[in-house]
Amino acid sequence: MNLLILLIFVFLISNISGFNYLVVSPAFGHSHSTFMGKLADALTEAGHNVTVLSIIVSSKFRNISYTKLTKDIVVVETTNEQDQQAENMENNDFSRYWTQEGTLLETIPSYLMFTKMSDHGYETFRNHALPQMEYLKSHRPRYDAVFFESYLHTGKAIQEYLEIPVFLPVTSLTHDYRLAELIGEPVSPSYLSGYFTNFGNIMNFQERVINTLSYYLAQILISSPNWKTLQDPSKDLLVESEYYRAPYVFINSNPYIDFPRPLLSKTIEIGGITVDADALKSEKVDETWNNILKRRPHNVLISFGTMFKSIHMPDSYKNNMVKVMKSFKNVTFIWKYESEETSFANGAENIIFKKWTPQTALLADSRLSAFFTHGGLGSVNELSYLGKPALLCPLFADQVRNSKMLSRHNGSIEISKFNLESYNTLRSALHSILFDESYAENAEKLAKKLEFQPAKPKELFVRHAEFAARFGEQPALDCNLRTMGFATYHLLDVVVCLTSFVVLVILSLVVIIRKIVQSLAIKMKRD
Ligand SMILES: *[C@@H]1O[C@H](CO)[C@@H](O)[C@H](O)[C@H]1NC(C)=O
Ligand SMILES: *[C@@H]1O[C@H](CO)[C@@H](O)[C@H](O)[C@H]1NC(C)=O
Ligand SMILES: *[C@@H]1O[C@H](CO)[C@@H](O)[C@H](O)[C@H]1NC(C)=O
Ligand SMILES: *[C@@H]1O[C@H](CO)[C@@H](O)[C@H](O)[C@H]1NC(C)=O
Repeated sequence: MNLLILLIFVFLISNISGFNYLVVSPAFGHSHSTFMGKLADALTEAGHNVTVLSIIVSSKFRNISYTKLTKDIVVVETTNEQDQQAENMENNDFSRYWTQEGTLLETIPSYLMFTKMSDHGYETFRNHALPQMEYLKSHRPRYDAVFFESYLHTGKAIQEYLEIPVFLPVTSLTHDYRLAELIGEPVSPSYLSGYFTNFGNIMNFQERVINTLSYYLAQILISSPNWKTLQDPSKDLLVESEYYRAPYVFINSNPYIDFPRPLLSKTIEIGGITVDADALKSEKVDETWNNILKRRPHNVLISFGTMFKSIHMPDSYKNNMVKVMKSFKNVTFIWKYESEETSFANGAENIIFKKWTPQTALLADSRLSAFFTHGGLGSVNELSYLGKPALLCPLFADQVRNSKMLSRHNGSIEISKFNLESYNTLRSALHSILFDESYAENAEKLAKKLEFQPAKPKELFVRHAEFAARFGEQPALDCNLRTMGFATYHLLDVVVCLTSFVVLVILSLVVIIRKIVQSLAIKMKRD
């Protein structure tokens, strides 16, 4: 009998040498696509069969390859309409965040627009992508598991259509509030900032008021999409109500960088998986860049990413930045700038404008003294692993939280975008980051910790992905918090019950004592 079990076991092990994975990756932003690409590559590297379904949302991303090792890529093309929508969003929606606060009320229109685009994207997918779906059906005998970004629900529809037994939601952000809630993870607005707020996890009273309001507002605004399944236009697609069935969810936060917070054991933190620190450290800049870096004893790289363009900056910011930079005679500033029209900086010899920069090779170069960035998660992770001090100037959404998260480690300084027009504030921040050595030391310390992190993000990811493909759903990890009502979770029923009991006891005691006192009084009168 034991021999039989052993034989079955050996048979299983030898047969399950590799799994078939599908990675659904809508290409609408570099950070999202880079993250999904790294996940695919990590699985390919571990010897599995990986197919990437790349859904092009904006033609800008059409010709960029986000995977190095994974070659099996199926593409769903964009439509002109989708392309136009994406372009409009970039031009109208993002440029205004240079001067707008990005507070609760201002971010809601962006959120609603995103929802609309997402609904429209799904309709387009239904109408155009069925050939690719049929191809995927015949391509592999069966997929063992599918990965998709948690708030891009097309992935859930694909899972149903292809009858893939296991789905694994991931987020390229540090957390997805909604996803956490759906799997039963505690998400109190007292310590976790929500969709429309990005305060970090340490909030003052005013921030907690706004965060709490935003929490309930999100409950109203964010609802499970009203979509139909791909195979049957009369059948509702179950999305959010199903998320608890995912054996794991993967999030792009790293416990040694992020704010500590309670997580369920099915939430796996793989932040840092996009950074291959060894490969980055061995990157070298070419001769042109070498010559630029040689000119002065200090160098600063300035980049606000791809979505937020420096050309859209108000003139008052640009002029002030130039004035501040001119005052640092022994520092070369390399500014990623999207146009050749740079007359506002005439006469500033130490500023070099470039439409493209080899960001990671520069960050890895010891001659680069600091990075001046908008605090996108991709850049923040690279900075952390490469140990560079930074000036963080968040413009919008999660950048605010990312900046707080990183500056908590004392290797960088966060400044408000409105301070880009203040000479003294900007100058003093730059001066500190360049010449106060504690920043460089602390940044280096964080990088060292990440180098020796006990469980590497890639390892964590691959092992859990394999476990999920092998064993499927994990009901044992399903936390019953998700089914609790407000009153049960906050113990309101227990509080009411115990308080009533105490009140009852006190009342009874009062009645009894009064009775005793009264009878004593009567007795004394009689005597
Ligand atoms: C992976 O792909 C190869 C080539 O297409 C195929 O021979 C193999 O059976 C696949 N592996 C699994 C586990 O299906
Ligand atoms: C992508 O590449 C194709 C063929 O190489 C080319 O025709 C097309 O213009 C490129 N698209 C973009 C947006 O660069
Ligand atoms: C560069 O200039 C700053 C002041 O602008 C000064 O504090 C620093 O010592 C100078 N460094 C070198 C290497 O000349
Ligand atoms: C950063 O500095 C503050 C104030 O000096 C200190 O309390 C805190 O522990 C430091 N944080 C880290 C991660 O070293």
